Amino acid sequence: MARSHHLSRRQFLAHSASLAGASLGLPATRSGRAEERRGPARLGFIGLGDRGRHLLKASLDLPEAAVGAVCDVHPQRLKKGLEIARASQPRGYTSDRALLEDPAIDAVVIATPVFLHAEQTVAALESGKHVYCEKPMGIDPRECERVLAACRQAEERGQIYQIGLQRRYHPRYRESVRFLRSGEPGAVRFIRAQWHAVSTPRRDKPWLFRREKSGDIVLEQACHQFDIFNWVFGAHPLRAAGMGGAHGVREGAPGCDVLDHYGVILEYPAGAKAFLSHLNYSIPERRFAGIYELAFCERTGVDLANALTWTAAGQTRELCSEGGSDTARALASFAGCLVRGVRPDAGADAGYEASMAAILARSALERGTAVEWGEVASA
Ligand SMILES: NC(=O)c1ccc[n+]([C@@H]2O[C@H](COP(=O)([O-])OP(=O)(O)OC[C@H]3O[C@@H](n4cnc5c(N)ncnc54)[C@H](O)[C@@H]3O)[C@@H](O)[C@H]2O)c1
Repeated sequence: MARSHHLSRRQFLAHSASLAGASLGLPATRSGRAEERRGPARLGFIGLGDRGRHLLKASLDLPEAAVGAVCDVHPQRLKKGLEIARASQPRGYTSDRALLEDPAIDAVVIATPVFLHAEQTVAALESGKHVYCEKPMGIDPRECERVLAACRQAEERGQIYQIGLQRRYHPRYRESVRFLRSGEPGAVRFIRAQWHAVSTPRRDKPWLFRREKSGDIVLEQACHQFDIFNWVFGAHPLRAAGMGGAHGVREGAPGCDVLDHYGVILEYPAGAKAFLSHLNYSIPERRFAGIYELAFCERTGVDLANALTWTAAGQTRELCSEGGSDTARALASFAGCLVRGVRPDAGADAGYEASMAAILARSALERGTAVEWGEVASA
């Protein structure tokens, strides 16, 4: 699926022109010249819950973007969003379609429940907006394929799509992956990963506990880690097998049908494997909680989140010490891609393969047998 990092000149000119129209307060246009572009990209935020407000706050200091509009169906959430971005005097909407019709908006940042991602992404791309949408891409194979196709068509028109897989922008993950691919540690043969919650999930988001709305924890949460596996191996998994269940999440939660624990193993090319232990509740012993990915290589190991490796003499070697917010970096990169016509690192291909790897794992958990990539994915 490797494609050029840069949009073609024709594609770039088209998207640059759309930024020009917006910042001049003119209708967005798909024709025109790159030199017409003025000022920062105008962003519209759709979904102002916990994640949407976090993204909104992280966007306030971006030099290459400005908040143009905010939207939530819930009036109180909309009020909070307007308050956070008051210095930019954004327009407020309770309808996403009304925001999409706002010609002053170049790009949308979507942070709504998972079951809305595909529909809202496709509508936004078709309305001519660039899109940053939270993970996952869609809730099932059909939705992911629909979004991927819409992204491919939109890229032809010079539009950008980025998915909220922000670890791709964290300097420690980036350096760990660069090191793993450098040849120095030898082939990566196995990854052991863990996503163990530090607390029991909050009950104030009913959509999270319905598989048809969240896609289950294996998709809604763990697609971050499936993306890391794909990134390290430079490929999607070939097959998956696993087992899971619900120890306590369904107690006192009518209609809850999601898992709260599972283990899944994925096979990658050349016999490499990745194993994930996912627990969405905690026990009082906090040392058992936390999120990590450990790569077992021919000559050493790498702790990706902490960018650590070990010498033959057993000494720890830090690959990168930079920290900071990966979400702020992801948004800054999105704004830069809009201005420079560059395809995002966490673009449509990465988003599709991470989401589909999670759906592959979910299918294996549902069926109780090993499932092949070709049984769920067609792209
Ligand atoms: N990348 C990350 O690390 C990360 C972290 C947390 C959540 N997320 C993702 O962000 C998304 C949102 O999660 P959350 O925790 O903020 O959920 P949330 O329930 O707190 O917020 C969702 C918001 O969307 C609004 N909404 C629902 N339908 C809408 C519509 N049609 N138009 C406009 N607004 C609408 C709701 O009113 C609510 O305010 C999910 O996809 C989740 O998986 C990503």
